[in-house]
Amino acid sequence: MSRHGRAQSSPAFAPSRRALLAGLAGALLPPATQVLAQGSAVLPQAGAGAFDVAPRVPWLPMDPAATLTRIGFGSCLDQKHPQPIWKSVITAAPELFIMLGDNVYGDVKSEAMLELIEAYRKQGEHPEFAAARAAFPFLATWDDHDYGLNDASGSFPHRDKAAQLFRSFWARSNVQPDGGIYDSVTIGPDGRRVQVILLDTRSFRSDFRRKGEDFPYWGRYAPDPSPGKTMLGDRQWRWLEGELRKPAEIRLLCSSIQVLAEGHGFERWGNLPAERKRLLDLLASTEANGIVILSGDRHAGAMYALERSPRYPLVELTASSLNRSYGPSKDERIAPLASGIYHPENFGLLVLDWEKGTVAVELHGMDGVIVTSRTMTLAELATKR
Ligand SMILES: [Fe+2]
Repeated sequence: MSRHGRAQSSPAFAPSRRALLAGLAGALLPPATQVLAQGSAVLPQAGAGAFDVAPRVPWLPMDPAATLTRIGFGSCLDQKHPQPIWKSVITAAPELFIMLGDNVYGDVKSEAMLELIEAYRKQGEHPEFAAARAAFPFLATWDDHDYGLNDASGSFPHRDKAAQLFRSFWARSNVQPDGGIYDSVTIGPDGRRVQVILLDTRSFRSDFRRKGEDFPYWGRYAPDPSPGKTMLGDRQWRWLEGELRKPAEIRLLCSSIQVLAEGHGFERWGNLPAERKRLLDLLASTEANGIVILSGDRHAGAMYALERSPRYPLVELTASSLNRSYGPSKDERIAPLASGIYHPENFGLLVLDWEKGTVAVELHGMDGVIVTSRTMTLAELATKR
């Protein structure tokens, strides 16, 4: 999204982080031999040529059996600007970092995709980002600006080319039959499994309804009750149900756009209220434990919570932006907002204490500032009402 009106999944996983940091070059596997946690081999890159935007230094692999205790996440990263936030992220020492979309700003003017190609190449060479890539592995989904156009929906004609670039840059070989980039990765031994569910909220999304006089909040869209509109598309919905039924102790439901937020008219699940209800109903009907929602896109960070969601408190942390901060948000301060709204640069951190059985969800600003946080027990996130 852009608040100023302009048209606006995974690296591989293996040795311990210490081993990786001690012998980075030796520990790295060539992309063609990296293996994903879900068992699908990472195939060679899409081949030389314009659509090969893979960074010259490969991504850090990660051991699918590793016990994760610190997971970073963020969104809205402009390849043209300095990226000092990575220094703060590295200090926070995550074992994995999840990019929630708008990972580069490459809105395209033609099917040649020149702007997006250039954006990925610039980001791949960014020195501050290089330090982060040497410190921890990444997972990613996309949002509009790395999909190719501000606020673009499933009608965007260059999705397949954008997906080719996404997979090339992020070293992902997963190709869903419908062309989406949604994916899931489960990391950790039994009893300490973290499932990262990476939604694709762009490829199949119906167009949003422009707001009129009847919608009081700032932004450009209003909730659309039209039947038949979709956020995920049929296949991704069926896939998500299957993922939610897989065993895991904690599940990070990663949506580029906000799921729970109210009080603004920018892109959010609330613009398609029947689809948001479908999601909440699915979380309840699958009895999926351990859900925490992660989102980005908004150029402002905040915590949201549905204390009376069907099974247990449903918490969402929006982490945005990594380096593209605007002025203060004019979002209405209404439920389910559960914190202040923080507009300077920020990132999220999930801290798991497996001994105590707790998960802390934190929003961090620059230089170690913790803006807001909430700690829950894994038992609490498995409770049936
Ligand atoms: Fe966005």
